[in-house]
Amino acid sequence: MKARRLLKRMYQGVCFLLLGAGVAVLSIALETGTATPTALALTVADCRVCHTSGNNVERHHNLIATKGLDCLDCHKMVLDPVSNTYVFAPFRDCTDCHSTSVHYDKHGFYIANWQTQSGVTPGTAPLWTQIMTFSLVNPAMNQYQVCYKCHSYNAFGSAPTGVSPVVSRSGIKLTDQAMEFNPNNRSAHPIQVPLNSQTGSYAPKALRSNQMTLAWTNVGTQTMKCSDCHAAPPSGSTGATKFLLKGPRTYWPYNRNGRLWTLNDVRGNTNSWSTDLFCVNCHPIYSGGTWKNNVHDDGDHLEGSYTIGGIRHNGIPCVSCHVEVPHGYRYSRLIGYDTDPAPYATIQSNGTKAQALKGFRKASSPFNYDEGNCYSTVGACDEHDSRSMTYDW
Ligand code: HEC
Ligand code: HEC
Ligand code: HEC
Ligand code: HEC
Ligand code: HEC
Ligand code: HEC
Ligand code: HEC
Repeated sequence: MKARRLLKRMYQGVCFLLLGAGVAVLSIALETGTATPTALALTVADCRVCHTSGNNVERHHNLIATKGLDCLDCHKMVLDPVSNTYVFAPFRDCTDCHSTSVHYDKHGFYIANWQTQSGVTPGTAPLWTQIMTFSLVNPAMNQYQVCYKCHSYNAFGSAPTGVSPVVSRSGIKLTDQAMEFNPNNRSAHPIQVPLNSQTGSYAPKALRSNQMTLAWTNVGTQTMKCSDCHAAPPSGSTGATKFLLKGPRTYWPYNRNGRLWTLNDVRGNTNSWSTDLFCVNCHPIYSGGTWKNNVHDDGDHLEGSYTIGGIRHNGIPCVSCHVEVPHGYRYSRLIGYDTDPAPYATIQSNGTKAQALKGFRKASSPFNYDEGNCYSTVGACDEHDSRSMTYDW
């Protein structure tokens, strides 16, 4: 019965389309340093990345047996102008019958009811390599297993750099979360394992407890859920927070004025960093007049004007050192290099990357960093212009 109602609705939708009344115009806006992108709807090409034809035809045709549908409930005969006869036309555009936000709108359900859903558990792969084996766990034992069903090779298949072709609503390509949270990576948020068990990370693996807010001080042994950082869309598909980031602070990597956050915003107490900057939900970064590591603390990094990729910044942007997708990464401490692909690297309004490094090595403690721990060929970073140790790959 439910299917019949849906079919009725979808035929109404198709009629509108044929009459030309319901034609949706998709406006594409690229992410720039000054504008929040217009929400992008998934296209049929996006659906087809994860729903390959083989499995999709079969799934629909199974509904004939399970829901009592007929061929003409889903297909129609259309007039072929060449032969002037009626021919059988399978629908090919998913969005004629399904909403483009069929998944987006369900994220509240995925997050809240993960215990009742099926999930997949990833096999193993070396450092920064796509995991290609998954086994079904029904019901899921961890929340991330539900998310990995769709946010990994399990759904979109091969994506060796971690970047899939599916452009999500917030205007970036979906990446492979199972690849990002792989325990063999050099750094990661503790989704699959606590940081002391992050095999690919070298000492010191965990952060210090003063690098965390009070709810997160079991450093090295604590784990977190995707939903500690991601929330349900506020109301249907409108007015949603970018990337579904969970508050109270929801701005990353741009502040609410559309500029990249910099260390200068924090030191100079501008752009409402303490109430807006996403990371500060769990990392104080700067409190009681002190920074929590000597890289953030460095006067050169805080002050003055930096030109990176031809764009001038006041202080160094967070994403000149860190990767934009802060899940887990091939280099320590979620550092990113200028050779990384978007969206790990941040593309600035003139097409250049905001990331400035070509080499990084984690220090023995948060206050033991030296100029040699970083290597860069950016003019503004000329104190780091020679290679002085073995850097993370
Ligand atoms: C990133 C991968 C991905 C994309 C993109 C995607 N899907 Fe899915 N979809 C899945 C997976 C995986 C499942 C199976 C979930 C399960 O087994 O519980 C699914 C399930 C579904 C279902 C079954 C009901 C449900 O909500 O779980 C429908 C309907 C559906 N997709 C339609 C679409 C349409 C239409 C599009 C394009 C607008 C689309 N999907 C885009 C991965 C994707
Ligand atoms: C629940 C809806 C539904 C029903 C019922 C249904 N189909 Fe389909 N059919 C589809 C969809 C959707 C596709 C296209 C899927 C795609 O392109 O990924 C399709 C594809 C096809 C194709 C193209 C096959 C291919 O491999 O690309 C044929 C032929 C077809 N259907 C015939 C039929 C016939 C005959 C019946 C009745 C016995 C039927 N369908 C019933 C939804 C349905
Ligand atoms: C002609 C209309 C039509 C088109 C086109 C169509 N679907 Fe469907 N689809 C349906 C109907 C009807 C159902 C059954 C809904 C229900 O269970 O109430 C369905 C169910 C599904 C399911 C769940 C199947 C299951 O096992 O329960 C998936 C997944 C899905 N569609 C994906 C897609 C994708 C992806 C496309 C495009 C490649 C597509 N559909 C195109 C009508 C369509
Ligand atoms: C059944 C498939 C499916 C499941 C399960 C799923 N997602 Fe998604 N998710 C998608 C698809 C498809 C998109 C892209 C939606 C769009 O752009 O409309 C998406 C988009 C997102 C986005 C980006 C939204 C934006 O603004 O661009 C986030 C964040 C996200 N999912 C997190 C999660 C988390 C966390 C879980 C587990 C609790 C989860 N997803 C489970 C399919 C799924
Ligand atoms: C520490 C906080 C944090 C955790 C934990 C986290 N995310 Fe995210 N996630 C983010 C941020 C910040 C972004 C925005 C990235 C950007 O600006 O490009 C994001 C972006 C995304 C996106 C959209 C773009 C993309 O790269 O695919 C998806 C989907 C997503 N997250 C899914 C997940 C899933 C699934 C999990 C758990 C397995 C998870 N996230 C855990 C902070 C987090
Ligand atoms: C919801 C809480 C939360 C948010 C928001 C959050 N983090 Fe974290 N972060 C954690 C936890 C928990 C750890 C693990 C600390 C430990 O146990 O040692 C961590 C660890 C880290 C690490 C060390 C990872 C490693 O393996 O070396 C870095 C770097 C980091 N976070 C940066 C960020 C950045 C940048 C942001 C904002 C884009 C952010 N975090 C947002 C909770 C959070
Ligand atoms: C000049 C490079 C650089 C810049 C710019 C930078 N970071 Fe970091 N950040 C680092 C390094 C290196 C570490 C690792 C410190 C350690 O080993 O404990 C780090 C650690 C962190 C951590 C872990 C907790 C802490 O306080 O040490 C967070 C969170 C973080 N950065 C967020 C940010 C944010 C937010 C910004 C922008 C406001 C930013 N970073 C700008 C290099 C940088």
